Amino acid sequence: MTSDRSRSALPAGYRSRTLTADDRGALLDLDTWAFPDPHSVAEFDDLPLPLTWERAVGVEVEGAPGDGLAAIHASYPFSRFPVPGATLPTAGLTWVGVHPQHRRRGLLTAMIDDHLDACRRRGEPLSALFAAEAAIYGRFGYGKAADDLRITVPRGAALRDVPGAADHTVRVEHADRARHGDLVARLHRAPGLPAGPAGINRPGWAARETDALWESYWADPKSFRAAGRESLRIVVVERDGEARGYATFRRTLDWQVTGPRGTVHLGDVVALDAAAARSLWGVLLDLDLMGSTDPFLLPVDDAVMSLLVDPRAAGARVADNVWVRVVDVPGALAGRRYQADVDVVLGVDDPRVADNAGSWRLRATAFGAATCERTDAEPDLRLDVRELGAAYLGGTSLVTLAGAGLVDERSAGALGRTSAAFGWPLAPACGWVF
Ligand SMILES: CC(C)(COP(=O)(O)OP(=O)(O)OC[C@H]1O[C@@H](n2cnc3c(N)ncnc32)[C@H](O)[C@@H]1OP(=O)(O)O)[C@@H](O)C(=O)NCCC(=O)NCCS
Repeated sequence: MTSDRSRSALPAGYRSRTLTADDRGALLDLDTWAFPDPHSVAEFDDLPLPLTWERAVGVEVEGAPGDGLAAIHASYPFSRFPVPGATLPTAGLTWVGVHPQHRRRGLLTAMIDDHLDACRRRGEPLSALFAAEAAIYGRFGYGKAADDLRITVPRGAALRDVPGAADHTVRVEHADRARHGDLVARLHRAPGLPAGPAGINRPGWAARETDALWESYWADPKSFRAAGRESLRIVVVERDGEARGYATFRRTLDWQVTGPRGTVHLGDVVALDAAAARSLWGVLLDLDLMGSTDPFLLPVDDAVMSLLVDPRAAGARVADNVWVRVVDVPGALAGRRYQADVDVVLGVDDPRVADNAGSWRLRATAFGAATCERTDAEPDLRLDVRELGAAYLGGTSLVTLAGAGLVDERSAGALGRTSAAFGWPLAPACGWVF
């Protein structure tokens, strides 16, 4: 793939360079300017950085390279990012920050264009990210592709029965890489969570693919512990000696006049089937001295919402999860599966990546192979690349977007058929912030 766009250059007086491990101090200093943190840079000495350095870029003031960084961005190399029914190479944009002294001069804009160029050079048809503020990335063609649930489940909340759940044994232990590293890596990359029918994966469920990411996951440095939280713990549920699910957690205590009302803060929650999920949640919702259990980044269709007898009591709120930028339209559209037959011409607008703009004929059979080719035909649907990103993982319907005026149906019937094809049986979500 070639770079095909008049890129937005850095403003005069700035230059960028690839960072190395020697830039650790400057990177952390910039990061704590962008994201205020009570710890000094020196206090992060036991924090392994999850970065792949050759994908980390710093911006400096020209002529003043020793004065620290003005901006940074990096990306994680997801070689197998789950998209509906398949995986694709994807750049997980991360560590984006601009020093307050240098903000609103176009540094982020230039860094994004740099990033999109790099994605195309590396053959990554997608970029994904978590947004610190939801208003930042739409202008660059990223669409909100997934939501997650924030719930607070009261201790002892009743769960429906699942045959086989009682056949599990439970281990509650300090989380430890030597002891749990293999099982966590293996269970976390299971295709559907809980495993769906063959071929039905959970789009967006990125695995930690590099050793640096795993090191950072297991390190548990003091600076990671938010107020009053204990060190990382793990529950493992096993059946016939085989791990079938796990959850990581940290508890906090809260002594009230009426009794202890601690909170179980969950990290990963992974179960390979319904019985394992029922067993796991049974433990997580009944820990002594706790008043409630707070999962983080739960898929909107997580099994617990069907297991809870009273889901309303969990007070579900929805937050934006992963955002997706289609960097290469034909590569991305042919690289996923569709849940219905489809033959449609999409007219795509993309002000930043000229190669993406124009008409594309997408043809696919239900759950089978897809092709996407440039065409001169008039589009059946017109949309911006941002909306394509929003719909791409199957979590946002094209009909919904059209209801907000964001997709234009040019050919009667095309919207409903294409929207049905773009959906997916499991809702997209990523279970960790990258
Ligand atoms: C968000 C951030 C990276 C923006 O960097 P920046 O260099 O100031 O951005 P730019 O100057 O390139 O701005 C580009 C456009 O985005 C807009 N924009 C930037 N940050 C925005 C925000 N937080 N909310 C809404 N709009 C924003 C700018 O107003 C500008 O709009 P315009 O083109 O209409 O003038 C920077 O403010 C920052 O580091 N914030 C704190 C950390 C953070 O949120 N990082 C993102 C992690 S996902």
